[in-house]
Amino acid sequence: MDLKQYITIVEDWPKPGIRFKDITTLMDNGEAYKYATDQIVEYAKKQNIDLVVGPEARGFIIGCPVAYSLGVGFAPVRKEGKLPRETVKVDYGLEYGKDVLTIHKDAIKPGQRVLITDDLLATGGTIEATIKLVEELGGIVAGIAFLIELTYLDGRSKLEKYDVLTLMDF
Ligand code: PRP
Ligand code: MG
Repeated sequence: MDLKQYITIVEDWPKPGIRFKDITTLMDNGEAYKYATDQIVEYAKKQNIDLVVGPEARGFIIGCPVAYSLGVGFAPVRKEGKLPRETVKVDYGLEYGKDVLTIHKDAIKPGQRVLITDDLLATGGTIEATIKLVEELGGIVAGIAFLIELTYLDGRSKLEKYDVLTLMDF
């Protein structure tokens, strides 16, 4: 299946000069969403995943159906102030802003093999921050899966140590 046909390019959003890749037109097509999810599930099976971790909000859209299909748990990475119990946190820069990401301190057991999921690899700041959180808790980043990679931003150079799956390049 050619997944690219389900991605809508929105010019100058959220800022002038940005060509936003809208994944909602993939998600609201049942066949395309299932196909994309199944590709990541097959990859995750090869990587022997114990737990899926994804950064809010779009990392949940990708990671939760994968976790459900594998029969493993999902641990959310959230922006500061959203998780109710003790967290670890990390500052990060993203394509158009800055923020703090957090995870519950007990979300990962040391040695667990973690799949990190997100919709899009742009500068790699979000995923780099998510990796730091997983590793700080003793998790092993056994794979990282995205729907989309923006190759011209070279986020991939931050992920050289890791096994990465992307389903589409722009
Ligand atoms: C977007 C996207 C990725 C990130 C990619 O998330 O969903 O998580 O940016 O950019 P990067 O590789 O340069 O870090 P955003 O922070 O806009 O939030 P959202 O997922 O809650 O919409
Ligand atoms: Mg995001």
